[in-house]
Amino acid sequence: GPEEELPEKGDSLVYADGDLEGKPIVLAALKEAEPVLATAVDPSGVQRTESRFAKIVLVRVPEADIDEDTKPHTADNVIALSAICTHQGCTVNGWDPANKALLCFCHGSEFVPGEGGRVAKGPARKRIPMLPLAKNDKGEAQVAGSFLGKPGPGA
Ligand code: FES
Repeated sequence: GPEEELPEKGDSLVYADGDLEGKPIVLAALKEAEPVLATAVDPSGVQRTESRFAKIVLVRVPEADIDEDTKPHTADNVIALSAICTHQGCTVNGWDPANKALLCFCHGSEFVPGEGGRVAKGPARKRIPMLPLAKNDKGEAQVAGSFLGKPGPGA
């Protein structure tokens, strides 16, 4: 069923944990350099939580840190990416201010959100794929397309 599938265009995004778990993510509420874990919800209201590869992380970065290829897939300077480390699959939810990069606490891999999830620091070697993002008329995060690449560990 839809709970086992990856995010698709038209899904909404809700907080995956914390005080706001299950609530829609209002883009304006996201702060720079503070990654938030998200769950995709299909149009019928089913949360896509049964595939670990469906985990998503959202982070806002300064506009100047978003490159030309990445920009079309962002909304209000917020970037959505797979939250599954391409090294060994840990959940990526840290931030390294020095490299302006998402940080995986398992072995220290880093990924640059404004550059399409490029690897800034190993041991990961594969970029972390972006999830195209849009904003609905309430200012909430919505999925605009499938992951731009295969989520999960790989060469
Ligand atoms: Fe993320 Fe190893 S699983 S760095």
